[in-house]
Amino acid sequence: MIWYPYEQMKTMKAPYKIIDAEGVWLKTEDKAMIDSVSSWWSVIHGYKHPALNEAIKSQVDRFAHVMLGGLTHEPVQKLSAKLREFLPGDLDYCFFSDSGSVAVEVALKMALQYYVNRGELARTKVLSLTHAYHGDTFKTMEVGDDEDYHFILEAYGEKKDVIHIPTQIPALEEAFERYHKELNCFIVEPLLQGAGGMRMYDVAFLKRARELCDTYGVLLIFDEVATGFGRTGNRFVADLVLPDILVLGKALTGGYIGHAVTVANHKVYDGFYADDPNKALMHGPTFMGNALACSVALASVEVFEQEDYMSRIRRIEAITRREMEGFADPRIKEVRIMGGCVCVEVHDADTLKGYQQFAYERGVFSRPFLKYLYAMVPYIISEEELVKVLGTMKEWFRVNPA
Ligand SMILES: Cc1ncc(COP(=O)(O)O)c(C=O)c1O
Repeated sequence: MIWYPYEQMKTMKAPYKIIDAEGVWLKTEDKAMIDSVSSWWSVIHGYKHPALNEAIKSQVDRFAHVMLGGLTHEPVQKLSAKLREFLPGDLDYCFFSDSGSVAVEVALKMALQYYVNRGELARTKVLSLTHAYHGDTFKTMEVGDDEDYHFILEAYGEKKDVIHIPTQIPALEEAFERYHKELNCFIVEPLLQGAGGMRMYDVAFLKRARELCDTYGVLLIFDEVATGFGRTGNRFVADLVLPDILVLGKALTGGYIGHAVTVANHKVYDGFYADDPNKALMHGPTFMGNALACSVALASVEVFEQEDYMSRIRRIEAITRREMEGFADPRIKEVRIMGGCVCVEVHDADTLKGYQQFAYERGVFSRPFLKYLYAMVPYIISEEELVKVLGTMKEWFRVNPA
């Protein structure tokens, strides 16, 4: 039996069984549908991309995997060299892992140990955002503030080592003023908070955060697992404001294989670089730097660059703005658009009940959650396909009068 994610198994409806996938299309036995969520925001090149398929096929004939403990190989070397050139500033040191959650854990562990290595033992707290989502492992749940994880609070009563603030500059300044001696890091999903409700905020907040982190010697972590590789309309938000640690996942491999990376700048790396073995980073997921994952990730970054994906994303945003212009309904609280993300927030979650099946019947796969109906399409989508995704969202409100 399969235990499915985020589901009450007793009441869940049967999932759609996919038998093939190509471009933006998912195919079931009797239906083709556009994947409007890019398989949890990862499949940016669509399915069965020739260059990505080829990268995996040629690597698998050499070897699929060897561990990085005491061994290394060309795909991981080439990928880390490519990321060094592709990422902004001095984000040069790549620590690979097998999922976004683990990569965030690594970032949080790096930040804590960075200060322990310096003998600053009071810096045990993490500053984080309200509505944050950073993954499903224990520390990431603690740092997160996702509505679906409130059982943690029910069980433990409080989160001791995490302070949550809204994305407002006065709250940020106040938190730094009050807690700066105890903070090791400030972690954010920059500009776009995904699973917490596709919430968008201004870059001015991040610029001020950078200043305060510099003033008080606190590390700034950008969790760009969801926002990285163009989703916000920037290659990385790190191109606008430079963090000390950057976390990438999801689209890193074009959605082909679970893999992620925690990228540290020189300052953080130097904090571990010593003769003392106790100052080393003691972490090592079995599948870190997996050769198939690194090969496909390298191909993914190359396609992203060579095919000018940033202009594709600008086009997706322009079409989305045009199509959603003037779209309103009393049940809708707000329509938000940023880069390759559009979100229709409704007042009452019941408004979206039945939408998934409605969309399926019209050839669109969608997965609304809570009060959020959203699309994060693969970047290779055609105008016609994108108009169909957005048209299906609008049609739902038209054919189901309030
Ligand atoms: C911002 C952010 N961080 C971390 C994660 C966790 O990534 P994974 O599901 O690969 O563990 C996610 C997943 O949605 C995410 O959106």
